[in-house]
Amino acid sequence: GLVKTKVGLLIVGLTNSGKSTVVARLTKEPVADVAPTVGFAVESVKVDGLSVTIFDMSGNSRYHELWKLYYKETTAVMFVLDAADQARFPEADAVLQELLKADQLKKVPLLFLCNKMDLDTAAKPAEVAAALHLPTATSRGFQLQSCSALRDEGIKEGMQWLLDQV
Ligand code: GTP
Repeated sequence: GLVKTKVGLLIVGLTNSGKSTVVARLTKEPVADVAPTVGFAVESVKVDGLSVTIFDMSGNSRYHELWKLYYKETTAVMFVLDAADQARFPEADAVLQELLKADQLKKVPLLFLCNKMDLDTAAKPAEVAAALHLPTATSRGFQLQSCSALRDEGIKEGMQWLLDQV
């Protein structure tokens, strides 16, 4: 098949979910923390020889409208959830459903990273799936991946699945 040399990777998640830490694991380099007030940062990195553009956006709802400007360049989506922050599951659910219904992303694979699984207080993937109404059908190209960005566990596996889809 065709080898995609340019992947537009959109990384979405609430504030503090671990997006910057995931990016750091992908780039193998420390990433300067993005101040929540800045809204979002765009950067290009090389992952396994692929050119990946990462939109690391704040979860602040005033910026959600800005996300849509990036949808047309997006060929893969990562959604990062802090699985230990159960109080904000409804907020995360709302953001995820917004992504899932976006016409421009209907054919774009979505990797759901269930992050911070190293914490005792983290919800189990099945609980997350129920609380956030995760799609069960794989037809859309949806994958749930448990991970700990902190310990660098599960990120590579998830990224490999995502790159296999594009
Ligand atoms: P914003 O820039 O505010 O949107 O945050 P972010 O989504 O980029 O999150 P960031 O990577 O800055 O991580 C937020 C906090 O969670 C930091 O203190 C991280 O060290 C911590 N963190 C990230 N991933 C994990 C994880 O897998 N486990 C644990 N225990 N902590 C994590």
